[in-house]
Amino acid sequence: MAFLLALTLPAFTGCTSSGSSESHDALSVLSAAMAESRSSAALASLETTGYVDGPSTIDGIGRYYRGREISHVMGHLGAGWLERPTREQEERTDLLLDFLTGLGGTTVADIGVGTGYFALPWARRLDGGRVLGVDIQPEMLDILASRVAEEGLTNVEGVLGRIDDPRLPQGEVDVVLIVDAYHEFSAPREMLAGIEQALRPGGRLVLVEYRGEDPLVPIKELHKMTEEQAITEVELAGLEWVVTEDFLPQQHVMIFEKPVG
Ligand SMILES: C[S@@+](CC[C@H](N)C(=O)[O-])C[C@H]1O[C@@H](n2cnc3c(N)ncnc32)[C@H](O)[C@@H]1O
Repeated sequence: MAFLLALTLPAFTGCTSSGSSESHDALSVLSAAMAESRSSAALASLETTGYVDGPSTIDGIGRYYRGREISHVMGHLGAGWLERPTREQEERTDLLLDFLTGLGGTTVADIGVGTGYFALPWARRLDGGRVLGVDIQPEMLDILASRVAEEGLTNVEGVLGRIDDPRLPQGEVDVVLIVDAYHEFSAPREMLAGIEQALRPGGRLVLVEYRGEDPLVPIKELHKMTEEQAITEVELAGLEWVVTEDFLPQQHVMIFEKPVG
């Protein structure tokens, strides 16, 4: 599929909202596009993959999955934003780390690991376990590797994923974490299939996304997700929604489980 090869990594323009681009309503844009071009090819594509090509908004790639436009990937030039000193206070990342620690696990994975903002402290708290940090940008994995070396950690492994495959060991992973990255997966259906295969039965996916229902969360629309949208997409991959925790100020923490048996 051509779109799998068409991933672009634009210069970082930030995730915070900036005015007019937010007026785009992905659903209405999609409806307009569908109305304009009801070609049998587009409809066949929707039936088989769930993907539809439509107009690109400023923050999106012009590919829609289940009515949601997929956002651009945040380029590695945004690494500083991920490590901004105000992040812990803004997002209460300390609470998320406490939650992850409570889940335990021997092999855990952070997909869209970026600079390792979560992977490193998570690894420090894992008793005898290891963190697989997956990213599609080698530059992010380089940053991760130098931070891991600086801190002398031996239980974090970088994994160069593909846009349609997290390249994780099958049936071995206890917990998969995805923070602020799923909305930019250009092949979400294939990524979720890979995650489902990587999890052991009973293993959990912790999906963290800025709350799309809340206009007060100051993040670009395509960088947020509603709970309903996320649950629909993940359950299509065969994972069961367990609960959505709302202990963070701006983000949903959605927990899914791979059924046993
Ligand atoms: C906004 S950053 C978030 C990084 C990190 N999770 C955090 O919260 O600090 C999103 C990351 O997801 C990565 N990414 C995008 N698509 C991906 C894919 N299909 N597989 C793995 N990583 C991906 C990007 O390269 C980027 O490093």
